[in-house]
Amino acid sequence: MRTWIRSLRPFDIHTLVERTIDVREAERFIRQFHAENPGSGDVNARLRDVARDVARYGTYTHTAEELTFGARVAWRNSNRCIGRLYWRSLKVRDRRQITGAEGVALECVAHLREATGEGRIRPTITVFAPDTPARRGPRVLNEQLIRYAGHRAEDGSIVGDPRYVEFTELAKSHGWHGGAGRFDVLPVLIQPSFGGPLLCNLPGDAVLEVPIEHPEYRWFADLGLRWHAVPAISNMCLEIGGICYPCAPFNGWYMGAEIGARNLADPDRYDQIPVVAERLGLDTSTERSLWRDHALVELNVAVLHSFERAGVTMTDHHTESRRFLTHLAREEKAGRVCPADWSWIVPPISGGATPVFHRYYDERTLKPAYVHHR
Ligand code: ARG
Repeated sequence: MRTWIRSLRPFDIHTLVERTIDVREAERFIRQFHAENPGSGDVNARLRDVARDVARYGTYTHTAEELTFGARVAWRNSNRCIGRLYWRSLKVRDRRQITGAEGVALECVAHLREATGEGRIRPTITVFAPDTPARRGPRVLNEQLIRYAGHRAEDGSIVGDPRYVEFTELAKSHGWHGGAGRFDVLPVLIQPSFGGPLLCNLPGDAVLEVPIEHPEYRWFADLGLRWHAVPAISNMCLEIGGICYPCAPFNGWYMGAEIGARNLADPDRYDQIPVVAERLGLDTSTERSLWRDHALVELNVAVLHSFERAGVTMTDHHTESRRFLTHLAREEKAGRVCPADWSWIVPPISGGATPVFHRYYDERTLKPAYVHHR
């Protein structure tokens, strides 16, 4: 027999009230879990336990099965993601016991190695400690685990990815001695539950990269372009049943256009369209030559070709659009709504040439979800 003698000070009341999770969210999730996973035990018993824990501790703990389901459904609910057909295959790495910076660093590196699979990329998420009334979970401050630095020179010009100039300066202020190149992999900045932040330089074998070349134009390789194989979003919270996991880096594989029509092409990113157009000898004196479009297509051909040659998983926007409609049909058949944001789903090139362009979508937001907090 155990008895508890606990006392609350006014201060505790404040933090508890402020940080206690919403028990209705918890209940909704537990019901959903049991509805979609019949045979997972007595839902009422589980609901009672959860309600008791929330009342007592301001939070509760997901079972491993609930966590895996929650992470997968959060992907299924990602209305900006065109690649949701394989949401059930998400590999969930349960690292909820980790709150320290070294532990997070080690597991981020292990995540990248496993997810990269020497090119056979596996959609993977690693879930670290959640926020609780007692303490905040750890955080990764980077937007993605792998990104390239943007170095601002004295004269204001930028070498590298302009999107990460601020982050690069932050890393340097924490003592990072990055190079001065166009594709310097940034260190991972980790804010642990307790104590100061940690800078982690990723080991080379955790970062697979693909040099970009063109199947026909030999000069293309001389542009010196490259991109990393794994897009691993690291600054979104995974929210399941009222619980927030602030550190839950996840990855899929790339769709070529994300790199060829955005990262390397956007004027405020690597801005390579004018460079490619010039090498192609296109008439850039008039928009009506469609030199931008022409250069964009060749850059995208190069990206798809290079990943294929390197044996790295990548999809193209035509295939992915068709898959997305398959996913929509499946979800409908399962009696669910599949929320989607048209402006994100339609690919950044040849939108109208893909079937996802020609319809509207349900714009609801559902939970569990991947969200940006603060
Ligand atoms: N668009 C982002 C990038 O270029 C990645 C977003 C996630 N993409 C994905 N295929 N899972 O890095």
